[in-house]
Amino acid sequence: MHKILGITCSHRHLGNSDVLLKEALMEAKKDCPDIEYLRLSDMVIKPCRGCLKCVYKGTCAILDDDFGVLWEKLKSADGLIIAAPTYLFSPPGIVKMVVDRCLTISKDLDSIAGRTRVAATINVAGNRKWNYLGVEILNLLPLAYGYEVIDYLEAYAPGPGEVLLNPENVNGARRLGARVAKALHGAVEHRQVADGQCPACYSKTFRFGPAGIVECCTCGIKGSLTAIKENWQLGFSREEIAYHFWTLQHRRNHLNGWVIPTRDVYLKKREEIKKLLPRYREIK
Ligand SMILES: Cc1cc2nc3c(=O)[nH]c(=O)nc-3n(C[C@H](O)[C@H](O)[C@H](O)COP(=O)(O)O)c2cc1C
Repeated sequence: MHKILGITCSHRHLGNSDVLLKEALMEAKKDCPDIEYLRLSDMVIKPCRGCLKCVYKGTCAILDDDFGVLWEKLKSADGLIIAAPTYLFSPPGIVKMVVDRCLTISKDLDSIAGRTRVAATINVAGNRKWNYLGVEILNLLPLAYGYEVIDYLEAYAPGPGEVLLNPENVNGARRLGARVAKALHGAVEHRQVADGQCPACYSKTFRFGPAGIVECCTCGIKGSLTAIKENWQLGFSREEIAYHFWTLQHRRNHLNGWVIPTRDVYLKKREEIKKLLPRYREIK
């Protein structure tokens, strides 16, 4: 039987993210009875130490927090609906802390490969004017844990629960819940990509390079920016979209072609680096 995990990343009980997540889960439950609700702020998640023990030894060095429990839940869930507020233009730090721990799952990539794993995200901010990276950073979490993002909802209201006063928000949350549940029964339907949006991850944030090259800041795909009359048009090849940074195939290649070899490259330079370090030990 399929399972859908709902994660709220706001500390507020029955705050805006929380109620929209619950609305989505209630709708999802109609098609997929096995749902689980989780509050990220009730878990202890420590920051990644950057030791890469997970890559070289297959286990995370941090054993005294709840990351292992969280990953077991994410590993077994086929559907994920995750909701977070915007704090200072992007989701709260706990979201990024979970994203940062994702190298830990390198050894488990095979266990999630070949399965339909879909996600939808809900981002609530106080005001549309100050939400530059809400969806972008929030979408990183499902992508980092092997889900395909098929839909998202952006909602706006400052006070807790205030988001419910706009029926579009409630209907949007229901759409997300239904879409995730239906996808798990084989009817995968993606939200339509709007102009100016990344076709792989729905980001609206791009880096501009020379000769009209654009790069998505959430999933790394490269494309072109062309002026058509008074408008700009983004274009991406099918190959780029199918091989974005978070695809399992790209992740395996990134791990074997970059992350793992950095160790030997570093070891060769270690004596040279050691000579440069003593002066930095003076400041404690
Ligand atoms: C510390 C803090 C920072 C915030 N920063 C922003 C912001 O940058 N942009 C914005 O539109 N709203 C911002 N807000 C407003 C929240 O996004 C808004 O109240 C949201 O509805 C909270 O969702 P919640 O009820 O799920 O916690 C901020 C709120 C707090 C507490």
